[in-house]
Amino acid sequence: MSEDLVLEVKGLRKVFRIGFFRKRVEAVKNASFSVRRGEIFGLLGPNGAGKTTTIKSILRLIFPSEGEIRIFGRPAGDREAAKRVGYMPENPYVYQYLKPLEFLDLCGRLTGMPKVERRERSEAMVDKVGLRHAVDRPIGKFSKGMMQRVGLAQALLHDPELLVLDEPMSGLDPIGRKEVRDVLLEQRARGKTLLFTSHILSDVELLCDRVVIMQRGEITSEGQVSDLLESAGRQVEIRLSGASAALKTSLASRAVVVDDGAGHLTLRADGDRAIDEILRIANAAGARLDALVPVRQTLENLFLQNAGR
Ligand SMILES: Nc1ncnc2c1ncn2[C@@H]1O[C@H](COP(=O)(O)OP(=O)(O)O)[C@@H](O)[C@H]1O
Ligand SMILES: [Mg+2]
Repeated sequence: MSEDLVLEVKGLRKVFRIGFFRKRVEAVKNASFSVRRGEIFGLLGPNGAGKTTTIKSILRLIFPSEGEIRIFGRPAGDREAAKRVGYMPENPYVYQYLKPLEFLDLCGRLTGMPKVERRERSEAMVDKVGLRHAVDRPIGKFSKGMMQRVGLAQALLHDPELLVLDEPMSGLDPIGRKEVRDVLLEQRARGKTLLFTSHILSDVELLCDRVVIMQRGEITSEGQVSDLLESAGRQVEIRLSGASAALKTSLASRAVVVDDGAGHLTLRADGDRAIDEILRIANAAGARLDALVPVRQTLENLFLQNAGR
């Protein structure tokens, strides 16, 4: 394995058996991807896609049914490799009655950090994740967003080389998400590697170098965000006025048409051919072209296109 690969997942499969009849749930069917040193890598997908199961397999919190996982060139579960990994679970397990610094101190103690370092790092992380104002409150009284910050502080405590974050943005408001994004970008600037899951696609676009999209336990796309968006094709919004009802009907089979009731139509056209065709038909029917606006492709569009398949 190359020095540059921090994480390698090959042919991962995880089958759960649930209930009295041991019904099979194939949470991950076949997932392969690798994460390079120093990149921010996104594992995306709708709820139930298998993201958390993949993350838990990487951290050996669950045992895969099939497949091979290597972290820093060592098999998953290796003690030395595990020390270089920080993990923020989807729902951080915290002790309700501890205050943030006490909780972080406990986490540090469990991973064998010396006392002075524990104290310094805990203080620094509380500032980094913006919890200074809440140091006197027990964690049990925290909001979901504050809890996420505790989880992030705990993941960063021992300054790991690889950060694995399961839905780090969930429960945060836009300002909180920006703050977390900045913390993650700072980690990358310091040469750290990040793997995170998300279904908040705007954050992913702003952060990730590369992504995989997972659906129903399988990886359906992989690549650089810019490449994925390009491959999603060109979309244009076409605005027409003076359109008759007959024109609207004939266009409706070619694109989604929104009618404001006063003869103004707004259409979304996919690809150059569809655009040309719609313009030709509209022109022949005597409608006027008011505007032709390129639609900025987003991961969200790509996602919906994929999901529709
Ligand atoms: N411990 C478990 N036992 C049974 N089924 C599970 C378990 N964990 C996850 N699943 C199922 O596996 C699928 C994938 O779940 P998960 O990995 O949590 O998805 P995601 O994180 O993408 O939302 C879901 O259908 C979920 O119900
Ligand atoms: Mg999940």
